Amino acid sequence: MSEPADPVGEAVAVLRRGGLVGMPTETVYGLAADAANEAAVGKIFAVKGRPAGHPLIVHVASAEALPMWAAEVPPAAAVLAEACWPGPLTVLVPRAAHVLDVVTGGRPTVGLRVPAHPLALDLLHRFGGGVAAPSANRFGHVSPTTAAHVRADLGTAVDLVLDGGACPVGVESTIVDCMVDPPQILRPGGIADEAVARLLDGVGGLAAASGPSRASGMLASHYAPTAMVELYDTLAAATARAGALTATGRVADVLDATGDLVAVAQGLYAWLRTADDRGVEVVCAVLPPPTGLGHAIRDRLFKAASPTRP
Ligand code: TXA
Ligand code: MG
Repeated sequence: MSEPADPVGEAVAVLRRGGLVGMPTETVYGLAADAANEAAVGKIFAVKGRPAGHPLIVHVASAEALPMWAAEVPPAAAVLAEACWPGPLTVLVPRAAHVLDVVTGGRPTVGLRVPAHPLALDLLHRFGGGVAAPSANRFGHVSPTTAAHVRADLGTAVDLVLDGGACPVGVESTIVDCMVDPPQILRPGGIADEAVARLLDGVGGLAAASGPSRASGMLASHYAPTAMVELYDTLAAATARAGALTATGRVADVLDATGDLVAVAQGLYAWLRTADDRGVEVVCAVLPPPTGLGHAIRDRLFKAASPTRP
């Protein structure tokens, strides 16, 4: 199929008529709908197989839209928006009265972010409104970081996929709950915990991290490939285990998630998808240290490895 002459213009038209757009962002591809159109947002849940009640992030064109979607802008949210947008950071703030329940899952809060991707920004500017978008994967699966991943997961249920190439960050946005004092990271992501803490230094700081990410609807079963994922602290241990499995006829491979963490995050989901395509049964993953992007990479690997997943 040939690309339309003005793909972003087409995407704006799809959003206006209540359709769904595969939207590239710097983190992962989103499944986008007009956040003010209840029926359109409802389609997101149907297409993803996502249970109702899981709130969606509203994507906006600039920080100027924050007061239009928030009943009140907590100082921490203002600081983070100013410093990080456009960028891989989502703030949870009190919702404005007009924000649909289908978007917030009936919560008193709304998640907002400005994505740092030229196609997404062009789309948001030309559309003018807010765009509700979860990651454009089947519910529970690994997030998509290319247009081909979106098509593989969701097929023709998406009206149009904007091809913005491979996502440069590769893991989802950092979610900061600005409803609590001090604010708390609910999901580590593309902006490191340490960077968020530094930015919030002047406005009361950041709550200490407390275990795995807890954004509502974030079940342990998220981010899972078909392959089993086992976690190791050293490459030697992972390699030994993969070798032992291979010797018994199993298909095992080592995922070394240490080293250049920017590159690891960028390639993580594509690697897991390719492992499934190659018929890998067991992924022996080496965890990075819990620093910088290592927080997000570890979080996603813990989730991929969860024994409670379906
Ligand atoms: O990088 C990202 O954040 C990507 C791109 C597309 O922007 N989006 C994304 O959306 O990861 P999703 O729906 O896959 O994950 C968003 C998480 C979910 O766990 C959701 O429950 C949580 O954010 N969330 C959104 N709004 C919330 C709210 N008002 N209260 C609590 N949790 C919220
Ligand atoms: Mg998701």
